[in-house]
Amino acid sequence: MKIAVIGTGYVGLVSGTCFAEWGNHVVYVDNNAEKIARLNQGELPIYEPGLDELVTRNRNAGRLSFTCNLAAAVEDAEVVFIAVGTPARVGHGDADLSFVYMAAREIAPLLAENAVVVVKSTVPVGTGDAVEKIIASVRSRGSFSVASNPEFLREGVAIHDFLNPDRVVIGVEDENAHAVMVALYSDPLAEARTPIVLTQRRTSELIKYAANAFLATKITFINELADLCEQVGTNVGELALGVGLDKRIGSSFLNARPGYGGSCFPKDTLALLRTAQDHGIALRIVEETVTANEARKRKMALKVLDAVGGDVDGKTIAVLGLTFKPDTDDMRDAPSVPLIETLQRFGATVRGHDPVGMENAARILDDVQLFDDPYECARDADAVVIVTEWESIRRIDLARLRQVMRAPALIDLRNAFEPAAAEAAGFRITAIGRPIVRQADNVVDFPAKSKPRDKARAAETTPR
Ligand code: UDX
Repeated sequence: MKIAVIGTGYVGLVSGTCFAEWGNHVVYVDNNAEKIARLNQGELPIYEPGLDELVTRNRNAGRLSFTCNLAAAVEDAEVVFIAVGTPARVGHGDADLSFVYMAAREIAPLLAENAVVVVKSTVPVGTGDAVEKIIASVRSRGSFSVASNPEFLREGVAIHDFLNPDRVVIGVEDENAHAVMVALYSDPLAEARTPIVLTQRRTSELIKYAANAFLATKITFINELADLCEQVGTNVGELALGVGLDKRIGSSFLNARPGYGGSCFPKDTLALLRTAQDHGIALRIVEETVTANEARKRKMALKVLDAVGGDVDGKTIAVLGLTFKPDTDDMRDAPSVPLIETLQRFGATVRGHDPVGMENAARILDDVQLFDDPYECARDADAVVIVTEWESIRRIDLARLRQVMRAPALIDLRNAFEPAAAEAAGFRITAIGRPIVRQADNVVDFPAKSKPRDKARAAETTPR
């Protein structure tokens, strides 16, 4: 099939490239000429494992190209995907649809007969109806269809998720869109017998928000239980295992962490709440999820405070892992940001390291010295905080890390390390949802060469 994709952001790039991998001819359009020039040179604007190779392979095979020329891309396309951003509107929380509507207006006069316009961006219920109206108001003749086809890709494993989906959701209102969309997906997914859920367009739009809100709620549920585990001396990992193996519950997304972040859950939960409010409906569970998650991200700073004796003023804290999760350079709503800001407000000097996200981190974080090397980052630090469990961070030599630090506090917000291994390397470890080791039980750290400052710290850690 001939496909045009409007927008070369995350969703557009991954989806279009995978459609090309399935044998379709895909042309990308973006009005940012510089971005298109870079893409034509093989330079991707995002980091996603495996995407580079997939783009190159399909470009070389002549199935993938990039252009600023909207007319050339759209005129003979059977399917036109709108995959532009829908950021949260500042101060409102609802999705900003101006890019979607602008794309609809621009493609309207160019569409081929019976072209299917597919909204791939995450959009509130009724957006497909609005897109249809916009196109109809511009076109004087010719028929077209508008479909909804949300994506459920996780950053970091997006290609795998696209090529091996649990299900595909398609919202259509007419036979033409039904036939074209089923043809697009059914062959490549026939072998895996992947369910294709065909619904009304509005249902399809809402499915995306409901799925994200449910997953965000599931994470928040286990995060709150992790707090309880810490107090009652149990282990949230074992708890999640015992609970999640019940098929009605399911094991995935039960990892207790510092709070969810990223480009989707925070934005989409807020947008869903706005839609509900507009219709006089209170989604109380989602409201609580949003509030609890925001509070949790800030509360993580208190864990650091506790671990260093109650006060970070004048202390140096090294944060390892800055992106919102591993295998992405995305810093959007990353838990590291409120954590660092809170620590700085309490008087700490914060240093940071991330294997891939440093460029984006430098744009967002103020007064944080960034290091390519995790050991340099931790040099003379009073505490190390693990905020993102990158593989390279999991593989850190704990004994070497401890050696370069001033004090033994390791706050592992991703449960990346086995407590016994960390303790054997000389650390005093605080984790998530694992029994709290009270200060009174801790080994008091007396460094070999005791400086006045170290003595003061040793006094802080003596049993209360
Ligand atoms: C999410 C959805 O999974 C995807 O379907 C949707 O299309 C876009 O949003 P993404 O944001 O890329 O994908 O990452 P995901 O792996 O879902 O993680 C989101 C956040 O939840 C991260 O901050 C992650 O660390 C956190 N998380 C995830 C947990 O805290 N615990 C878990 O068990 C899983």
